Amino acid sequence: MEKKEARIREIIAGEKKISMVTCYDYSFASSLNESDVDIILVGDSMANVCLGLSDTKEVTVPEMISHTLAVAKGAPDKIIVADMPYAGCQKKNSQPLETAKKLIRAGADAIKVEWFRGCKKVIKNLINNDILVMGHIGLTPQTIHLLGGHKIQGKDKSSVDGLIKQAKQLERLGAFSIVLECMRKDAAKEITDVLEIPTIGIGAGKHCTGQVLVLYDLLGLYPGKMKFVRRFLDLSVQVKNAVNSFNQEVKRETFPSEGESF
Ligand code: KIV
Repeated sequence: MEKKEARIREIIAGEKKISMVTCYDYSFASSLNESDVDIILVGDSMANVCLGLSDTKEVTVPEMISHTLAVAKGAPDKIIVADMPYAGCQKKNSQPLETAKKLIRAGADAIKVEWFRGCKKVIKNLINNDILVMGHIGLTPQTIHLLGGHKIQGKDKSSVDGLIKQAKQLERLGAFSIVLECMRKDAAKEITDVLEIPTIGIGAGKHCTGQVLVLYDLLGLYPGKMKFVRRFLDLSVQVKNAVNSFNQEVKRETFPSEGESF
């Protein structure tokens, strides 16, 4: 854990852009462990890409814990940030500190907390308990209903001023970095410029200190594509082709071969 904290400080202090991708399972985590990516995020976007749900609010605390365990097992050398799920901090009777401690015990090195009305109290409590916190502002899916849906943030001066205020508050509280989601690139630049801590953007342009993408988006595994996503692979086509080859070989009785039999 101390080694990981030192690595986080190194990344923050570094001159290079930071890369972060989401991950939710052991097998992909094992691949990412061999990659050069800086940070893995066990995101509550698993609601969408793994569970087929439309709302990230539906992810439960036990689900977040179990996926964090799997990712930590697969990627022991990487910095792992786990999302604080809605159920762990915004739902009635939720216990944010207990949830964060469980995620840390599952293998997370830090917890990402989305901006919401009571987030400062939660973040302060986590930091006072020696838990590293990544903030998240802009288009925050857990409170999307308060933002009028999936809308680009930072479109006018008052919106940008509001985002800058949130970012500064998070920095003052002790967050070690902040995700900026879906906002105009000049707004993200202004925010990045006023902060000492790094910003990690998704749909926030090139001026952020780093970039994050949902793994299934960058691999081309998730149907539908947002403007800000670049598919570095078309894995869904490759998966279909591979499974069709398997199906054909089964039908032709050429799989399994002698060499694949006991
Ligand atoms: O859950 C997630 O994937 C995220 C990213 C969009 C940053 O929070």
